[in-house]
Amino acid sequence: MLKEIQNRRSIRNYKKNIIDKQDVLDILTAGIKAPSAKNNQPWRFVIVNDEIKNKISNKMVELYGPNKTAEVIEKVPYLILIYNKDNEYFNHLSIGACIENMLLEAESIGLGTLWIGYIKKIEDYVKELVNIDYELVSALAIGIKNENPVARPRLNLEEVLIYK
Ligand SMILES: Cc1cc2nc3c(=O)[nH]c(=O)nc-3n(C[C@H](O)[C@H](O)[C@H](O)COP(=O)(O)O)c2cc1C
Repeated sequence: MLKEIQNRRSIRNYKKNIIDKQDVLDILTAGIKAPSAKNNQPWRFVIVNDEIKNKISNKMVELYGPNKTAEVIEKVPYLILIYNKDNEYFNHLSIGACIENMLLEAESIGLGTLWIGYIKKIEDYVKELVNIDYELVSALAIGIKNENPVARPRLNLEEVLIYK
């Protein structure tokens, strides 16, 4: 198995240090190599500045109380908003493939990531902030790991596989 698949973890503790923007662009470039239905490449990305990042984090705390996801968004140097450009049937699957590519590319260059689905909960607020007319799908935090979590458990293959 690829070592990136084996070693990747969701990282929820980041160093404050800024990271090389080229690393972020390389990660996005890995994302856009993903397969997509009819090769329609439905993903669109927005890299947000610190002011927007902090506003997103503050809004999450305001609505849901202090939480790890909001803390990550505040601390991490890069937050990328991931959008779906239209409502073609398979777009969410294609965008999932794109995000997974990015997680694995980041792992391969030693950076940590967190896939943030809960950004959906404040979709309307994010729209006010960034004024982008696509559907917000997820966000991706990228930064320098400040923790080394053990692997989270998975079901055994026998528990999820049926032969018929
Ligand atoms: C679609 C999706 C949405 C997620 N959203 C969040 C999130 O909003 N906040 C968070 O802390 N983790 C989020 N995660 C990370 C999962 O909690 C994590 O992948 C899972 O617990 C397994 O841990 P691992 O990634 O370290 O293997 C999300 C993962 C996926 C695939």
